[in-house]
Amino acid sequence: MPDVTTDVRIRPLDELDLNGIVRINEKITGAYEPDLWEKRVMFYTRRDPGASQVAEANGKVVGFMLGDCRAGEFGLEEPSGWIERFGIDPDYRGQDLGRRLFDAICAHFKAEGATSVRTLVDQNDAPVAGFLKAIGFGESSLAALERKL
Ligand SMILES: CC(C)(COP(=O)(O)OP(=O)(O)OC[C@H]1O[C@@H](n2cnc3c(N)ncnc32)[C@H](O)[C@@H]1OP(=O)(O)O)[C@@H](O)C(=O)NCCC(=O)NCCS
Repeated sequence: MPDVTTDVRIRPLDELDLNGIVRINEKITGAYEPDLWEKRVMFYTRRDPGASQVAEANGKVVGFMLGDCRAGEFGLEEPSGWIERFGIDPDYRGQDLGRRLFDAICAHFKAEGATSVRTLVDQNDAPVAGFLKAIGFGESSLAALERKL
């Protein structure tokens, strides 16, 4: 496993990161989805680039975390940070990159006046749920509800 702890750079998302994110997502899910990710990257960069960050090692994007700071939704009047999508290249996991991306985004959320950060997780996805617990997420009084249409 490449050791990137010393020379990794955490920085805001840029439109040019699209190819790197498509590649990481393909490694994680097996699906090559450039059009889908182009829409997402455009959305997050135009909305608030600092709320989405990438990890770059030797000029190559090896991780991403996409988020957003919003107010006035779900009865939450105060600004709240939301973590929406993330992925670390499997070759670069276990080196704190996920945590460092999260910390950088949280610093941005705080600067925007947010006092909490929220996300949704599939409780059946043990690795992602475990990561979110390890970086400090706990139960919320808000619950995700759904019904079939
Ligand atoms: C979950 C994920 C982001 C973790 O990234 P990472 O860089 O390896 O995580 P870090 O090294 O920053 O770990 C931070 C903490 O989370 C914990 N953690 C990481 N992966 C974990 C896992 N699979 N299960 C339990 N805990 C985990 C670490 O032990 C660490 O805790 P500690 O500091 O108390 O030791 C990465 O494995 C990933 O991208 N998974 C796939 C996500 C996905 O399915 N995305 C879909 C595309 S949107």
